[in-house]
Amino acid sequence: MTNYSLVKEVIHGRRSVRKYTEQPVTEEDVRELIDCARYAPSDTNSQTWEFIAVLNREAIGRIEEMTWEELHRRAADAEARGLEKEARLLTRSFGPYATAFSGAPALIVCLATPYTSKFRDRIFDPIALVDEDVWREEGIKSSCLAAQNLMLAAHARGLATCPMTGPVLLAEQRLKKYLEIPEDRQVNMVIALGHPAETPAKLSRKEVPDILRVIV
Ligand SMILES: Cc1cc2nc3c(=O)[nH]c(=O)nc-3n(C[C@H](O)[C@H](O)[C@H](O)COP(=O)(O)O)c2cc1C
Repeated sequence: MTNYSLVKEVIHGRRSVRKYTEQPVTEEDVRELIDCARYAPSDTNSQTWEFIAVLNREAIGRIEEMTWEELHRRAADAEARGLEKEARLLTRSFGPYATAFSGAPALIVCLATPYTSKFRDRIFDPIALVDEDVWREEGIKSSCLAAQNLMLAAHARGLATCPMTGPVLLAEQRLKKYLEIPEDRQVNMVIALGHPAETPAKLSRKEVPDILRVIV
């Protein structure tokens, strides 16, 4: 098998898995995956990523709880504003989606660190090239690439993942407090990680001609 077909098989074979066996994820597994994550490209090699691996089921359960608590708070708030249908959908549809990590033996919290570089210090900031928000996004971009490396490496290692922003959208501040994450870090996403207990169907994708415009 060529390198290309191997890589393509790994890319096409990865699925978001939400059911896991009881088998724990080892610290060695995690270190291997982070070793792959850290070779992602990043703007001026700024490596704007950090990871927290939660291998403690009680702590994962606590993160699930705080996600539900925040979700119920938002649902009550929506209901009080006359948005009953949306509140119901939030609880019934988004709730299980945002807490799909609850059965996983490991949760990787993917952080984006502030983007810093000589370009930024010497050129961009003095001329106020872009707003601060753009630099926050710049950190997120590289952090996403590292997350994808991690997920592909996990799949190639026989592990399964599910990238999730649900708990971040609902409870980022509480998550940061609970895990003692410094204020200047953004929680990019969390990745549920474990040994797969299901083989989800391959979800369809937009066709290549529908998403590609070639200029020759
Ligand atoms: C940015 C992002 C956020 C996501 N958030 C969630 C989530 O909160 N809960 C969940 O169960 N899946 C989440 N997913 C997984 C998607 O549902 C999944 O990637 C998509 O349906 C395609 O399925 P596949 O990954 O199996 O190809 C997220 C994926 C991405 C990229």
